[in-house]
Amino acid sequence: MSGIDKYAVFGNPIKQSRSPLIHNAFAAQCGHQLQYRAVLVPPDGFAHAARRFFDGQGAGLNVTVPFKLDAFQFADRLSDCAQRAGAVNTLTRSEDGQIDGDNTDGIGLVRDMIVNLGWSVQGLRVLILGAGGATRGVLEPLLREQPQELLIVNRTPEKAHQLARKFADIAAVEGGGYSLIGQREFDLVINASSAGLTGEMPDLPGSLLTERSCCYDMVYGAEPTAFMRWAAHHAAWAVADGLGMLVEQAAQSFYIWRKLRPETRPVINKLRESMAAS
Ligand code: ATR
Repeated sequence: MSGIDKYAVFGNPIKQSRSPLIHNAFAAQCGHQLQYRAVLVPPDGFAHAARRFFDGQGAGLNVTVPFKLDAFQFADRLSDCAQRAGAVNTLTRSEDGQIDGDNTDGIGLVRDMIVNLGWSVQGLRVLILGAGGATRGVLEPLLREQPQELLIVNRTPEKAHQLARKFADIAAVEGGGYSLIGQREFDLVINASSAGLTGEMPDLPGSLLTERSCCYDMVYGAEPTAFMRWAAHHAAWAVADGLGMLVEQAAQSFYIWRKLRPETRPVINKLRESMAAS
């Protein structure tokens, strides 16, 4: 058996995953020898594949669409963040053989906004578009940054309302339909709706932005997303996509596994360059 620690990302589809590139870059930077592979797992085969991976001395797994709920159920223990998120993107074999489940998406988002982009959340009026898994995964770390208010709006208002109720013990959070935006203004707007994946944009009043508003799309791509174009059109102060969040959530997984925090900036830059070139 090789002495090199084994890691992987499980997903379906998986070809597009940049996780191997990111983790290999982190490992090279930290002088760690490890193996990290992308694995295509059949839709109903997560538990079986994960069990085989850990029985075969796998050290840690990243989990992406559509398996974050399967990973949540697979874990023997859950971090508070994963428990709240109802989803797991990082599984780790601990020293006692138990499998720990964590969710690093929210920390990834918060670190990208605060550390990389120099934005803040504390004391601000925050709006989140969408109330699916992406929103649920990031709410706890976001609320811990103590925004002045946080409003979740969703096409299906009841889902946003329920989500807000679930997190209301952490900080003031409100949820409902897009009509709740009304005449209100927001300092930070985060798009976590999957509408943009098909190039659609919810009908948002431009008046919700001020000249100091920052707009973040959790999705990323070679071209600005529909939400980013909307934000730029309405003169947002700053606009960003989710590439930094992708790298930061990976860095948090790497930290959980290797107890070292890699430099993310060179990896973000490298990915951005490779996306522009392709
Ligand atoms: P994810 O796990 O990526 O968040 P999801 O759970 O399917 O994906 O959630 C997708 C989110 O995008 C939901 O909030 C969804 O709204 P509904 O709850 O009403 O389905 C939102 N969404 C998807 N397509 C949309 C569209 N065309 N317009 C507005 N919101 C949309």
